[in-house]
Amino acid sequence: MQIINHPVLEDTVNDEITFHLDGKSFKAYKGQTVAAALMANDIKKFGHSRKLQKSRGLYCANGRCCNCFMTIDGLDHVLACMTLVEDNMRISLNNSDPDIRSDRDGN
Ligand code: FES
Repeated sequence: MQIINHPVLEDTVNDEITFHLDGKSFKAYKGQTVAAALMANDIKKFGHSRKLQKSRGLYCANGRCCNCFMTIDGLDHVLACMTLVEDNMRISLNNSDPDIRSDRDGN
């Protein structure tokens, strides 16, 4: 779902860009947060909790709960709800980036 005509935002969401989530390409609009771009592409699961392996996604949408952290352009623990999506941004679910995730033995 995307708001196309907005009396205040006007033309701020017209520039289409591409981002990549775990190797797949998706469309977004310049000015969207990563979380908004994911939700607009019907992606609601941003990863898992580490201890209980429960699904994590958008919760507070204002940077308070840390439920939406993901790996973005190689940086771990980035809040998707507070980060603007950029063209060719590389995003991974919080438990899927092979460069970041490994067990204590390095596997
Ligand atoms: S959804 Fe709560 S910090 Fe992002």
